[in-house]
Amino acid sequence: MKKIIVATLLCAAAQAQSVPSLKDAFQGMFRIGAALNQAQFEGRDARADAIVASQFNTISPENELKWERIHPQPGVYKFDAADAYVAYGEKRHMFIVGHCLVWHSQTPRWVFQDDKGQPVTREVLLERMHEHISTVVGRYKGRIGGWDVVNEALNEDGTLRNSPWRRIIGDDFLVKAFQFAHEADPKAELYYNDYSLENEPKRLGAVALIRKLQAAGVNVTAIGLQGHDKLDWPTLQQQAETIEAFRDLGIKVNITELDIDVLPRTTRSNSADVAERAAAAAGSNPYTAGLPPEMQETLANRYAELFRIFVKYRGTVSRITFWGVTDGESWLNNFPTPGRTNYPLLFDRQGHPKPAFDAVLKTGAAK
Ligand code: GLA
Repeated sequence: MKKIIVATLLCAAAQAQSVPSLKDAFQGMFRIGAALNQAQFEGRDARADAIVASQFNTISPENELKWERIHPQPGVYKFDAADAYVAYGEKRHMFIVGHCLVWHSQTPRWVFQDDKGQPVTREVLLERMHEHISTVVGRYKGRIGGWDVVNEALNEDGTLRNSPWRRIIGDDFLVKAFQFAHEADPKAELYYNDYSLENEPKRLGAVALIRKLQAAGVNVTAIGLQGHDKLDWPTLQQQAETIEAFRDLGIKVNITELDIDVLPRTTRSNSADVAERAAAAAGSNPYTAGLPPEMQETLANRYAELFRIFVKYRGTVSRITFWGVTDGESWLNNFPTPGRTNYPLLFDRQGHPKPAFDAVLKTGAAK
């Protein structure tokens, strides 16, 4: 059994090396990467490792740098996983992304509460934010090249989300977070990251937000468009207009969490809000036995049309990161409906490149 596994993995590794690479195809246009889980950056997933090493030149951490993981209790930091993540990227000479410093989700409740469970004051929360950012960013100074400083601060209508950060500190929590990050590593790129910015109301809110940050003297390097896409959303026009809107503010655009959901919708929105949950419905998990060829083709065409836009805006688009390496580990097998079989990425469950991989690659060759 062991021998078979080793042989399969060696085969996967050899295969990954013999296929052409995304990082070469887009060399000189933008960086291309993937989010890694802990098993992957700790070297326990040889199949993914072979793909990552041969295909990508940038990595993001799927979960291990989020507040709840790295700073679970007051005064308690757990750096082992994050250290391994950064070492993994350095060993392979990759651009290493930090994700994320300030978010309302996957942040422990104690951050916002005093020892009686009451909300802390603005001063206390600013102090906690400062301590967290200077400790985490400071530890990886000069090694993590760019940080998602604030994640998902906007509502769908473009107003600021009433998160505990905003309720307790006020609207300037974003300015403060960026200032603290800049102070901790003046050379690091700093990003605002969110989903659904392709929808106009939310996009206008983000444009206003970036303008405010710029007016406050804050250095925002890039907007992160998460890119949790569907087969029919965003439209190509929405995608192009969104890139242009941020280009016109003089910042770069990164596609930070790209994947394309091929399964039937179980919610009415296109939201990537991790708090969303939806029950399975009849017909909502149609491809448990594999993705039919015509759907592979639909996915390939969809990836190609999006990448043609990214290529068109090279120079503004400076990084594209897939949210996962192979279909098997994608969060979309469990979001928004748990236990489905999804096919959102370029590599299948065996680590083989899908037709979508070839389609994406071609858009690089067509520069
Ligand atoms: C959001 C977050 C990511 C991740 C995804 C789902 O997009 O930014 O960190 O949690 O949801 O995996």
